[in-house]
Amino acid sequence: MLGLTGGIACYKAAELTRALIKAGATVQVVMTEAAEQFITAVTLQALSNRTVYTSQWDAREANNMAHINLTREADAVLIAPASADFIARLLHGAASDLLSLLCLARPIERCPLLVAPAMNREMWAHPATVRNFAQLVADGTTVLGPGSGDQACGETGDGRMLEPDELLAEMIAFFQPKLLAGKRVLVTAGPTFEPIDPVRGLSNRSSGKMGFAVARAAAEAGADVTLIAGPVALDTPRHVRRVDVTTAAEMHAAVMAAVPQSEVFVATAAVADWRVAEVAGEKIKKKEGQGVPTFALVENVDILAAVAALPKAPFCVGFAAESGDVLANASAKRLKKNVPLIVGNLGPATFGQDDNVLTLIDARGARELPRAGKLALARQLVAEIAARIGTAAAS
Ligand code: CTP
Repeated sequence: MLGLTGGIACYKAAELTRALIKAGATVQVVMTEAAEQFITAVTLQALSNRTVYTSQWDAREANNMAHINLTREADAVLIAPASADFIARLLHGAASDLLSLLCLARPIERCPLLVAPAMNREMWAHPATVRNFAQLVADGTTVLGPGSGDQACGETGDGRMLEPDELLAEMIAFFQPKLLAGKRVLVTAGPTFEPIDPVRGLSNRSSGKMGFAVARAAAEAGADVTLIAGPVALDTPRHVRRVDVTTAAEMHAAVMAAVPQSEVFVATAAVADWRVAEVAGEKIKKKEGQGVPTFALVENVDILAAVAALPKAPFCVGFAAESGDVLANASAKRLKKNVPLIVGNLGPATFGQDDNVLTLIDARGARELPRAGKLALARQLVAEIAARIGTAAAS
């Protein structure tokens, strides 16, 4: 159930409705009278493909109890935008319009309430609003955002409603089981880039998609996630702390700095195995008659093996990108790097793709996770990790 209250951010609710429907949700829209000043029910009906409710006196329901019927069908109520006035009404259990009435009448145990505040920064910072939100959270409501930035009034600050794609990600995360609640997870992702000179370098075709999916899935499962990313063009998953690095040496340093605070380490990065021994300070020029340059290479530190060898090593998960015989190669890598779990996959077939096949290998044997999207696979991997580290939620 998507509730709209009065605010200019109502225009974002149209896009949100569309995004939720596209993601497979059924969206029942309810609007307050104030929301109708900003956007019409016609728009939201067309986008949700369901008639919109605006009044507690709506006679369309056979029993004339829209406030009961609507929430009995809903998995959650999301108020977006949630105005300061509506929040104040919610807080006091007021029930003078359909939306506040149905929030009050919803089965509190199985129909959670989420609110996405949208208001001017002064309104958001006002002691009354601060007090109201604190009480709302104490009453079990989940507050999404707000964001910060330019406001419709011309001012800049906190209080903007989250963007539709951010709210969609929040809603999806809300429904994931909290298998890693409170756990601290460190993830490496993407390739590394080893410079040869100021314009050239050695790298590989890793896109970082699998590692970013693992970071997102871990965050959705309630973990505190640090993502150390090589050079990739991907958005940071919500609530993930991201550290950008370029070379394997930088990735190694960033991992070592973060590892003492981590209980799980997932190494998805395709770390370059070698770097050139001497990086040229200036661009290397072609010189007629002098042939082609040659480079001496030195080996980079194996970050995963180094972490696994620490006296207080976190639970380590390696990835093995192979070009063939995944099972044999990945099993050998697991023993060589001394990690409890390794995930084998075919590098050339998956780099840059949105889906993958994973082979999970531990001391007990191998298990294949059949072809699926990288996020779906990452969620399965998170469940496997949670089961192995014995979190209360997973057992
Ligand atoms: N890895 C790492 N540091 C390196 C090389 C690899 O942390 N310098 C990690 C990767 O993140 C991955 C695992 O080790 O989790 C295996 O990486 P992969 O490139 O498949 O194996 P390599 O050890 O590099 O072996 P090879 O290239 O010979 O297959």
